[in-house]
Amino acid sequence: MAPHHHDAEMSGDYWEQRWAGADHPEAAAEHPYLQRELAGLTPGTAVDAGCGAGSEAIWLAAHGWTTTGADVSASALRLAADRADQAGVTVDWVHADLTDWAPAEPVDLVTTFYAHPEGDQLAFYRRLSDWVAPGGTLLVVGHLHHDGAHSEGDHSDGDHSEGDHPGPPEQTKVTADWISEVLPAGRWRIESATGESRSVVDPQGKTQRLHDAVVRATRTA
Ligand SMILES: C[S@@+](CC[C@H](N)C(=O)[O-])C[C@H]1O[C@@H](n2cnc3c(N)ncnc32)[C@H](O)[C@@H]1O
Repeated sequence: MAPHHHDAEMSGDYWEQRWAGADHPEAAAEHPYLQRELAGLTPGTAVDAGCGAGSEAIWLAAHGWTTTGADVSASALRLAADRADQAGVTVDWVHADLTDWAPAEPVDLVTTFYAHPEGDQLAFYRRLSDWVAPGGTLLVVGHLHHDGAHSEGDHSDGDHSEGDHPGPPEQTKVTADWISEVLPAGRWRIESATGESRSVVDPQGKTQRLHDAVVRATRTA
């Protein structure tokens, strides 16, 4: 059973300050899950929720999706728009708090990568699931909670990073099972639900070990 997730410090102001600062987060390297989970789908309309500097939204647009990238931080969206221009792709960037905003009509694909707004994490995923049209897909990637099984079993201490990097806040972590539980069986088919570990090298050349919960589901009704 999932614990209650709530984090009063993940407000829109918090995220805008992070993205506006000189030491703002780097744009994410391309997620391996994009190709693995989405390459077999026929492109349609897509929303990337909490798109940050836009890596995933740009990937979707470059792979034929009519893409909206939405984020609460205007500074993040400026970075994202510059990167999309450099990549030569078109993305509709929406500046919005996703606990309020919703697309005008359901879309064929909703993705979210490590977006953790103020409030309950699983309630946020439930909200995003309502944006998916029947027949469409939801792809959620979150920080893996230590209760979640994953392929390498190497974080029994709950530390989700290496080197000098702090791990993600505890209350943002989820398991694939917890995400799956918010998708009722009568309306959703779970296509994949896994705990994963991978290494990324940051701009300073340090290796970070990341632990992810990844769920892809099809809306059946
Ligand atoms: C950890 S970053 C991840 C960014 C990107 N998806 C990635 O994987 O690199 C989380 C993102 O969620 C956004 N975010 C947090 N709360 C939000 C909210 N209530 N509405 C919209 N975006 C939000 C933040 O501004 C930030 O860009």
